[in-house]
Amino acid sequence: MANLHLFVLHIFAMAFGVHHLCDAKVMMEYIGATGVPVKFDAVPIEEGIDFHFILGFAIDADPSGNPQNGTFSPYWASTLTPESAAAIKASHPNVKVMASLSGWSIGKKVLNWYTPADPQLWISNAFSSLKSIIETFHLDGIDIDYERFGRHNESFAYCIGELVTLLKNQSVISVATIAPFYSTVIPYIELYKNYGDFIDYVNHQFYTDRVKTPEGYLEAFKLRTGQFDKAKVLPSYEVNGRGIQGDAFFDALRLLERNGYDINGVMIFSADASAKNNYHYERKSQAFLLNSTSSV
Ligand SMILES: *[C@@H]1O[C@H](CO)[C@@H](O)[C@H](O)[C@H]1NC(C)=O
Ligand SMILES: *[C@@H]1O[C@H](CO)[C@@H](O)[C@H](O)[C@H]1NC(C)=O
Ligand SMILES: *[C@@H]1O[C@H](CO)[C@@H](O)[C@H](O)[C@H]1NC(C)=O
Ligand SMILES: *[C@@H]1O[C@H](CO)[C@@H](O)[C@H](O)[C@H]1NC(C)=O
Repeated sequence: MANLHLFVLHIFAMAFGVHHLCDAKVMMEYIGATGVPVKFDAVPIEEGIDFHFILGFAIDADPSGNPQNGTFSPYWASTLTPESAAAIKASHPNVKVMASLSGWSIGKKVLNWYTPADPQLWISNAFSSLKSIIETFHLDGIDIDYERFGRHNESFAYCIGELVTLLKNQSVISVATIAPFYSTVIPYIELYKNYGDFIDYVNHQFYTDRVKTPEGYLEAFKLRTGQFDKAKVLPSYEVNGRGIQGDAFFDALRLLERNGYDINGVMIFSADASAKNNYHYERKSQAFLLNSTSSV
């Protein structure tokens, strides 16, 4: 019955070009942030999934960590070349590649959102530097992963919101995501409140919410889907990391579904750590999403 229903929707979508009705579920996979020589083509990619690689990171700083007024440079693993990004997209039409902005640190220097002296200059530098990186590396989108904020962070929502709006308006990107975690959620809510229409998914870092059990995960998911749109928040997993670990993560996903939540995708941090276990969580997450009965 459910399959027939989907089939009818599919025909309807094809006939009327209502593509969002048959959008696939998404896999968000961070890659290239830890300095190991990772490659796109080692990661298992299922055909029926919209697979997004998220490069870590593009940073508004020189190699010593000094801010550059919005001029971003790529700092991900040098194995992730423009040619390899083009190649993985050519061999898998369901793959998109994105750049994540900022991250936690560069070398030993911890990064933070700073109030630009001239917000218009910051936005225009960010737009042009990212446009150039996006074109060079054949990218499709950006992820916002600023992880440290001062007491005064009002400029974040404005500058990032205007940047995303401009990149989408000029068709430089087709996808934009944000990656808040428990202690950074306030500036992200502010951003989302004003620019949420331009944000496709919320890669909330649930592994920082200190939950170790499926029941704890359900509570955290309730909280975060209340702060952002229910359909856009993706459950996440940190390989060899914090929070819920092992196959209990999949128990958590099943518990979310039993409680009426549609799981529209999964975010994993990160491919860098997954080669050692033959991408167990990437394989199992995609199998879960393909097998899941919830609507998309
Ligand atoms: C950033 O802009 C300020 C103000 O225009 C300028 O004084 C400063 O030198 C710039 N910094 C860099 C790294 O370009
Ligand atoms: C960001 O700004 C708000 C409003 O001034 C403040 O409450 C909050 O503590 C600041 N920092 C973070 C990480 O939320
Ligand atoms: C870009 O912005 C202009 C001016 O607001 C608007 O007319 C246009 O429809 C936008 N284009 C896209 C692709 O969003
Ligand atoms: C697929 O879904 C069915 C029905 O919900 C379930 O019994 C089965 O365990 C699932 N298989 C996987 C691989 O998740």
